[in-house]
Amino acid sequence: MSTASHPQMLPIAFDDLKRHEKYFLLVSTVLPRPIAIVSTLNDNGTDNLASFSYFNVVSSDPPCLMISVSAKRTGKKDTLINIEREKEFVIHVGSAEQKDLIHLTGEDLPYGQSEREKIGLTLSPSTWIKTPRVSEFPVAYECVLEKIVEIGNSHVVFGRILGGHIREDLKVGDEWKVDGTLLNPLARMEPGYGSIVDL
Ligand SMILES: Cc1cc2nc3c(=O)[nH]c(=O)nc-3n(C[C@H](O)[C@H](O)[C@H](O)COP(=O)(O)O)c2cc1C
Repeated sequence: MSTASHPQMLPIAFDDLKRHEKYFLLVSTVLPRPIAIVSTLNDNGTDNLASFSYFNVVSSDPPCLMISVSAKRTGKKDTLINIEREKEFVIHVGSAEQKDLIHLTGEDLPYGQSEREKIGLTLSPSTWIKTPRVSEFPVAYECVLEKIVEIGNSHVVFGRILGGHIREDLKVGDEWKVDGTLLNPLARMEPGYGSIVDL
């Protein structure tokens, strides 16, 4: 066995933690987390917009993304209700310069009211699905629902990408690489930024 000295470590029994303590610990150690801005269709035909930092790529072939939607005190979030019904959604990636307006998408408006409209963003029609995309974001992926996996009070939503839209100046060469410096994507790097309304 090595005799080298190691840093003192604090053991953490997760069963003993309060719900918000587990949240604080995980969101301040699993970093960075990219941010998905997700548009869905409400049942009255208006659009809904919300952000998710429990977001990543799960497969590039077939191209699949995931977001994890936690429950709110009153039940399911509008994004999940809409995805369960419509079986489709658009995932956008925003630039760090759009941080303030992306934060505003976390507001819990009553069902049927559009966060996008309140913030002043505009819509463009999608090409492969009914749900429109938001014109101002530099990356948009049109997704159909692949499956939903329930884990505790969260629903992990997997979406298969049918097609996408990338701001023209971001494309590098002929193989769909994107200039990351220009995109400057927004990610959660530090605890404290963003919404913790669902603790
Ligand atoms: C930057 C950011 C990241 C967020 N990440 C998540 C997340 O990963 N999962 C989640 O359930 N809510 C997350 N939220 C909170 C939701 O966006 C918020 O609950 C929103 O009101 C849900 O909207 P909806 O009811 O229209 O779906 C995040 C909010 C912000 C601003």
